[in-house]
Amino acid sequence: MVTIAVIGLGNRGFMYAKHFLKQGAQIVSVCEKKPELLKTGANTLKVSSDKAFSDEKDFFAQGKIADAMIIATQDRDHYGHAKQALELGYHILCEKPVSPIKEQCEELDKLAREKNLHMVVCHVLRYTQYYDTIKKVIDSGMIGEVTNLNLVENVGYFHFAHSYVRGNWRKESETGPSILAKCCHDLDMIYYLTGKKALKVYSVGSRKAFLPENAPAGAPSHCLSGCPESATCPYHVNKIYLRPTLHSFPYMIMHKRIICEKPGTSMKEFREILKTSRFGRCVYKCDNDVIENQVVSLKLENDINATLTMTAHTNKCFRHTRICGTKGEIIGEGGKFKVNVFAGKKKKYSFGILESIGHMSGDAGITRDFLKLLQTGELTSRVSLMSETIESHMNAFAAEESRKTGKEIDTAEFRK
Ligand SMILES: NC(=O)c1ccc[n+]([C@@H]2O[C@H](COP(=O)([O-])OP(=O)(O)OC[C@H]3O[C@@H](n4cnc5c(N)ncnc54)[C@H](O)[C@@H]3O)[C@@H](O)[C@H]2O)c1
Repeated sequence: MVTIAVIGLGNRGFMYAKHFLKQGAQIVSVCEKKPELLKTGANTLKVSSDKAFSDEKDFFAQGKIADAMIIATQDRDHYGHAKQALELGYHILCEKPVSPIKEQCEELDKLAREKNLHMVVCHVLRYTQYYDTIKKVIDSGMIGEVTNLNLVENVGYFHFAHSYVRGNWRKESETGPSILAKCCHDLDMIYYLTGKKALKVYSVGSRKAFLPENAPAGAPSHCLSGCPESATCPYHVNKIYLRPTLHSFPYMIMHKRIICEKPGTSMKEFREILKTSRFGRCVYKCDNDVIENQVVSLKLENDINATLTMTAHTNKCFRHTRICGTKGEIIGEGGKFKVNVFAGKKKKYSFGILESIGHMSGDAGITRDFLKLLQTGELTSRVSLMSETIESHMNAFAAEESRKTGKEIDTAEFRK
């Protein structure tokens, strides 16, 4: 039986661990700083209390006690945790982004290769039915040779407000730039679908909405402290968390446990917590600084052009895809896409509601492929090892360099 240790039992780590458990692996040890999440997490995952740690020093001091480690702490912690895990001889399933620091990504790639260990990065979109099928259509030759890709990451006003204005990914110095945090998946998808590396990268971006000067007159620091715009502001916590829309509902259910730092909180308690929580802050009075909307243009090998747009200012949270080939095109969004073969047949693919609101099938798929890799050594084409992940991360770093300097980046020069 494959054995697994987990560090970070928040949203992602707990979810992966539950998938592994369901798929027949054993979770042997966990580490989580927040006491309630540690207690309930260890319980659910059937980890004995002497193997559940709140301090990472005690957790790593156990040495190598499992086949693999899930690293699902925050973005700037992955490097330190992954380095320790690789040095102890663990295979790793590491959340993305691996690190917002270029040299740290390169170092981990080198270390994993030297130690001959699998460092798999959670580019979960690869495992969704939507992208898995698009990849199969491209590989079948149905649209000929790919010439152009336009990907749009519609983050959703409610999701951006939660994660990138009030939440964990709001401040570059604490996490990294939003093009890395949110869109390393999309940059990975450009590489994964074409198999081609970027030669040149250019990017522009801006912040326009979530700025102090846009705060309504008389707005308090927290929405529930009597904001005069409570009825009209789309970002008021009443609308985002307490009475979500059909689109925002699944995200908010998922995030309640994290905001409250414990499961099973009543709506009444949740409201109380929001009165003082950082998630209850006025979106115009937060300490956010990450870019709200950014466009990246890439010139790939084989003369393929690609663009990626990331924007906070959309009503729904979904990804839009348009891939052009010499003999046809793929147009899709959320959980469905169509293929138009020029002067030929049209084909529609649809994967249902769950696929259209996130990457749930991807989350289950990555744990299945990772388990298979540990059990049989079989590396499916979906698995993004650190050696491949470098591509998406370097392109995000190059995009940031371009956005900040206004210059087109030659990736070969940039990587030297
Ligand atoms: N693959 C994806 O699509 C995807 C989606 C969302 C988030 N992420 C990434 O996954 C990671 C985790 O995100 P999340 O949403 O689960 O965040 P989260 O805040 O819910 O979970 C992180 C957990 O790690 C714990 N933690 C942090 N440092 C620790 C330490 N030193 N020792 C023990 N516990 C520690 C925190 O207390 C927290 O509970 C982030 O890097 C994030 O960017 C990836």
